Amino acid sequence: MNQKGAWSFLRLAIMAVILGINTHHAGASAALIVDGVPVAAIAEERLTRIKYYAKFPALAIKTVLEMANLDFKDIDYVAVGRDDSANTFKKAEYVLKNPGKLLSLLKIRSQRTELDDIKTLLERECGANPADLRFEQVNVEHHLAHIASAYFISPWEHAAGFSVDGSGDFVTAMLAECEGNQINIKERVYLPHSLGFFYTMICEFIGYRKYGDEGKVMGLAPYGTDAYHDIFEQMVTLTDTGFELNPDFFVPFGSQSNITILDNGSMEVATLYSDKMRELFGDPRDPKNEILQRDMDLAYGMQATFEKVYMHLLNKLHKLVPTDRVVMAGGGALNSVANGKLFHETPFRHTAIQPAAGDDGLAMGAALYVSQSILGDGPRWEINDAYFGPEFSESEIKSSLDREKIEYKKLDREQLLEVTAQDIADGKVVGWYQGRSEWGPRALGNRSILANPNRDDMKDILNARIKRREWFRPFAPAVLAEKQSEVFEGDHPSPFMLHVYKIRENWRDKLPAVNHVDNTGRLQTVSRNENPLYYDLISRFEQKTGIPVVLNTSFNENEPIVNTPDEAVDCYQRTKMDTLVIGNFFCQKINGDV
Ligand SMILES: [Fe+2]
Repeated sequence: MNQKGAWSFLRLAIMAVILGINTHHAGASAALIVDGVPVAAIAEERLTRIKYYAKFPALAIKTVLEMANLDFKDIDYVAVGRDDSANTFKKAEYVLKNPGKLLSLLKIRSQRTELDDIKTLLERECGANPADLRFEQVNVEHHLAHIASAYFISPWEHAAGFSVDGSGDFVTAMLAECEGNQINIKERVYLPHSLGFFYTMICEFIGYRKYGDEGKVMGLAPYGTDAYHDIFEQMVTLTDTGFELNPDFFVPFGSQSNITILDNGSMEVATLYSDKMRELFGDPRDPKNEILQRDMDLAYGMQATFEKVYMHLLNKLHKLVPTDRVVMAGGGALNSVANGKLFHETPFRHTAIQPAAGDDGLAMGAALYVSQSILGDGPRWEINDAYFGPEFSESEIKSSLDREKIEYKKLDREQLLEVTAQDIADGKVVGWYQGRSEWGPRALGNRSILANPNRDDMKDILNARIKRREWFRPFAPAVLAEKQSEVFEGDHPSPFMLHVYKIRENWRDKLPAVNHVDNTGRLQTVSRNENPLYYDLISRFEQKTGIPVVLNTSFNENEPIVNTPDEAVDCYQRTKMDTLVIGNFFCQKINGDV
């Protein structure tokens, strides 16, 4: 019996194959759970090469099936991270209050219904044979899928559940109690009151209009001051039920489609700020123009207000679910600055956040919800690392290098660690491509560019040669797990780079390339059982320099993170990266001894 045959036989005897998808929404993605265990996951953007790709995740679906050596006929359930039938009462209530918006909401609804016919989409977009599609489709409400994505990766049997973002299924935040294999929803915050849209509106006003720019602007906030405190107080009000946005600052809700999916699958965000913003602050910043103090102060107010609402919701959640453990997801949970502060500003002491905390994670969340809450699919599974993406063989890597006539040396593990650590110590910019790709928006040591954080000029070097990022955006430190508390003030682990902590005073001078203006770093805690090779590389760097930290940024150049060896080699070729370490192959642009 071949491997696939044996697999199928075993499956008959045990449990289910669940394909999770996030479709026709930002961060289209697919995840596969086999017999209760997530085995593969990838966002469509990695395959289409279009950031935040938002149509049907056809390539991602094929990829996860291939990775598990399964076919469409093997799928028992398709879990979709959206449920149009959810919250209909609130939608109807809104329409009754705003009859003028009925047409646009009906239009959105009819498009959605069409998109929910997954069998037809699989046939049309993936070439699946309709006779093979025997699965049952389960739609899971957006924020429930978010919370499931966080809870069912945690080791806990009881936790508070929190999700916050722009919106999904008419809801912008959800508070829940997670117990056993159930998630009991306690509260929802409904549109138009959206913490995500508030953040996006300010980003747009200060010239960051692209979908997903919010994460960039977070880095600008510490350059600003609290100059607009009183205005931000008017913009967002805390309430017993959550928070409310002041409609005066926003275009009328429902008057437009806030987000449009373009033909190529990219996203376009409509203008969200009202004339009142212009009256108060003047013209919005043209992206071509310099960033002024006004813009920095707006960024400050935006982040401060976000944190105020975030902590308010978390404190409210704690009253409903008194525990010190919280599982968190939604685009808001990517706010690593707020995540770093919540340990001091709320009673929660432990967080579980999966690496794809944003909407790409809905694929995994919906699938986990079906697996755990609906099917009770075996014992709980706990995440160990973020490496759910594809891996390429040595021969595939070698072909990519040979095709481009790149000189390389094939090294054993020990040699590879030695020369790579030495290159990083010497101030080289090193492309590091190993094993399976990361799930979620962060490179975590398998599709990374690594550099020496001790070099004053490294941030400028990286920006000039490869990244060309905005001047205010910091680069991130990856630290050996057991050295985290020595270097950073926060000690809660941050394996997926989702917490920002202060760097301890005695380390700030040693880490200039990753020390942000407010003496913080968005760290990745690296433990040996998550990624032994990456851990050993940082250890070797520490042996050479005394610094248990490397600078880690994503392996890309203004594009989604590289997926294939070809893309890694292309990025190495067209940028001024010094070294490429891809699998066991070591390549240097400058002729030096390896
Ligand atoms: Fe979301």
